[in-house]
Formats: sequence, structure tokens, C-alpha cells
Amino acid sequence: MMGYTDFCFRRLLRLISPKLVLWTEMVNAYELVYKAREGDLESVRRMLRLSDPSAEPPTVLQLGGSTPEILAEAVQLALPFGYSEINLNCGCPGSDAQKGTITEPCGAAMMKDASVVRECTTAMAKAAASSNVPVSIKCRIGTHNTVKDMQRDGDVYETLLDFVDSVASAGHVKRFHVHARSAVLADLGVEGNREVPPLRHDFVLRLRNDRPELELTLNGGIKSLAEAQSHLDHGLDVMVGRWAIDDP
Ligand SMILES: Cc1cc2nc3c(=O)[nH]c(=O)nc-3n(C[C@H](O)[C@H](O)[C@H](O)COP(=O)(O)O)c2cc1C
Repeated sequence: MMGYTDFCFRRLLRLISPKLVLWTEMVNAYELVYKAREGDLESVRRMLRLSDPSAEPPTVLQLGGSTPEILAEAVQLALPFGYSEINLNCGCPGSDAQKGTITEPCGAAMMKDASVVRECTTAMAKAAASSNVPVSIKCRIGTHNTVKDMQRDGDVYETLLDFVDSVASAGHVKRFHVHARSAVLADLGVEGNREVPPLRHDFVLRLRNDRPELELTLNGGIKSLAEAQSHLDHGLDVMVGRWAIDDP
């Protein structure tokens, strides 16, 4: 989580629990790669370091970007640092990734074209092929351009299913971490996008039944151990964001 899950906060969480899967903040793949190409390896180290490589894993590195070659290069830079999984952010609304002086969409906007996500994850998985490090996706259940569109069209389960099927069809991604609400891309800010679109945990549960071969994580609005346990009982992994920050 941007602004929170830096290596210091992750160290605190790791002291609390040796088993939690921790996540980095989103690392901008373009920035990482351009720093490396400039020979600024100290910045690369600062962006990717684990506080204690022997104690910190399992930790997921999340990358933001939408150009396959850049993401592949970012994966290669990251592999020596010891991450347990490398994730592509397809869930943050309104995120742009800097590619030199050019800005490209990343995050939830990428859900509009699953073929781009498939190309990106294929390139990432090929770059990680020499390791056992899996590549995963974090996504929403779908996207709308405006709040009005969301109110008119509602959320459609098949949008999530089609996206997941399309990305998984290349055979490189088995794990999807789903923030179970849609993202509104044009007229709802980042904060609003974490509150306003309705939570649809049922979509992820349905996906669990329809695609038993996939590894699925449910995220969004989980605030108690009892609730987390009930999702675990249904074969879903659970990701908590704000609850963990508010009450580590
Ligand atoms: C301050 C803040 C920063 C976040 N940064 C990221 C991020 O870098 N990458 C990401 O995938 N999601 C990010 N998120 C979204 C969370 O990972 C999570 O999907 C969302 O908050 C819903 O889960 P929750 O209800 O458990 O908080 C962020 C959320 C917050 C509140």
C-alpha cells in the first residue's frame, strides 16, 4: 500500500507475524528500469530492498506498468532480492506510470484490455522463468468510466470471469488477488474508489466455484478475524489493507 508498506512497516508486521504474506508498495516499473539503465543502482536497491532478506519473505513485490519489455526488465532486476511473488497492479484507479517523459495507464485501467495484461504477464513470467517466483495479478471485479455508468450498468460477474479467463489462458498466471469492487476510472478519486463502488464478495466466491484450478485472494472491507476465517473456509485467501494499517 502506497505510503505505508515500506520496508520499515513490513519489518514491524513481520515481527508481529512470521507467516503473513506481506506486500510492498507499488513500485513503478518504468522508474525502476530507467534508474537501472542510468546506472543508478543505489536507487534500484532502495526501491527493492527487503529489511531482512532472511526474515522478511514471503513478501510480494507489486509492479505498476503496462509495457511488457519494461515489466520483464523490472522482474529481472527484482529477482535477486528474494521476493516470493511478483504482482502486476491492475486494481488502482487513476494510476499512471511514467515511462521516461511519457505517461502510460497502469492499474485498473488495464482491465479494459485483457490482452495487454496477458502480454505483460507473459513477459514477466518468461523473465522469472529461471526462478520459482510466480507472477500474479491484483485486480478489481471490473471497471466503469463514470459513476453514472456504474449506476446505470451495475456490476456484471461475467466481466470478471472473462478478464480472468483471458489472462489465465496464456498459462502463466494462476493467482488473482481481487479487490471485490469495481473501479470508476474518470470521475471518482482514489479514496472514493475504495468506498463508493459496492463490495461484491459474492463475485469472488462464485469465481472460486467456477475456476477451482486458480488461486484466489479476496480483498476489500474485511475487518474481523471471524470474517476472514469464513472466507478461508470457502477456499479463498484473504488480503487485508486498511484494517492492518489501523490495527497492526
Ligand atoms: C493508503 C492506501 C494505499 C494503497 N496502495 C495500494 C497499492 O500500492 N497497490 C494496490 O494494489 N492497492 C493499494 N491500495 C488498495 C488496497 O490494497 C486494498 O485493495 C483496498 O484498500 C481495499 O482493501 P481494504 O478494505 O482491506 O483496505 C491502497 C489502499 C490504501 C488505503
